[in-house]
Amino acid sequence: VSIGLIGVPLEEGSGRRGCSMGPTALRIAGIDRVMADLGFDVTDHGDLRPEPVEHLGRHPGTKHLPIVAGYTRALEAATFDTAEKGAVPVILGGDHALSMGSVSGMARYAAAVGRPLFVLWLDAHADFNTPETSPSGNMHGMPVAFFCGQAEFADILPPGRPLVDPKRVYQVGIRSVDETERQEINRHGVNVYDMRALDEMGVAAIVKEILKAVEREDGLLHVSLDVDFLEPDIAPGVGTTVPGGATFREAHLVMEMLCDSGRVSSLDLVELNPFLDDRGKSARVMVELAASLFGRRILDRPTRSG
Ligand code: ARG
Ligand code: MN
Ligand code: MN
Ligand code: MN
Repeated sequence: VSIGLIGVPLEEGSGRRGCSMGPTALRIAGIDRVMADLGFDVTDHGDLRPEPVEHLGRHPGTKHLPIVAGYTRALEAATFDTAEKGAVPVILGGDHALSMGSVSGMARYAAAVGRPLFVLWLDAHADFNTPETSPSGNMHGMPVAFFCGQAEFADILPPGRPLVDPKRVYQVGIRSVDETERQEINRHGVNVYDMRALDEMGVAAIVKEILKAVEREDGLLHVSLDVDFLEPDIAPGVGTTVPGGATFREAHLVMEMLCDSGRVSSLDLVELNPFLDDRGKSARVMVELAASLFGRRILDRPTRSG
């Protein structure tokens, strides 16, 4: 099996500098090496460097739309091409606005192979704002609304592009949602397991439910991992920390169960801000989690769980 690494040094979606160093930090932490050690044939496609897209018209409520649009187009194409060649696209971010491109590329791929695309969104935030609802104008708060066809800057990609059904979006770890965003999520039927659900159910029961839904429809599963899914103590290198996140063990368990399912078609590693990190700690955690997702395990036989 092969993996295609795609670097996306986008930071303009996040409202502060630093995420542009994310791909480099993930490489220094050994993202390619851990995957090669697990037996994958890894190709690093380097970093995308698109030109800003001008002439998009006016879109009040969006900051840095031209460069975000450039990355969205470039990454949509790169993700689709990588998947079509039979590799698993692994996106090295970059802020979360990049998922407008990666998920849209996977949606096009899923449509081409005639299977539904599911999205697992591991994040403190729902990222379902639109230019109308966003309190900040930061586009990293808008990707889910975009790939579900709910945001008004949709002319970034051609009309009629494949969208993701919000009912096939599963969010885990959520603990910061804006007021209007909350109403939109409910109205569109996004599946949200917030931190309370995680505390009450345990993360294993949640992942089992999600995987059951994916299996019922023989879906592909795109995983989007935001650094701020994690408790800030273990991953301080992110601009939008929210206390009370997933623990180290909870996050690894999610990854291990996803690995066992064999359903994961693609992965985003996003929001790493090395400028805010503590001696590479968060970069290392993200790489370790990716290793668990791609098959590193404690024993070389099945774990004795119920
Ligand atoms: N909801 C806030 C906003 O729209 C924060 C979004 C944070 N998103 C992220 N990917 N870190 O501005
Ligand atoms: Mn996010
Ligand atoms: Mn977040
Ligand atoms: Mn809507």
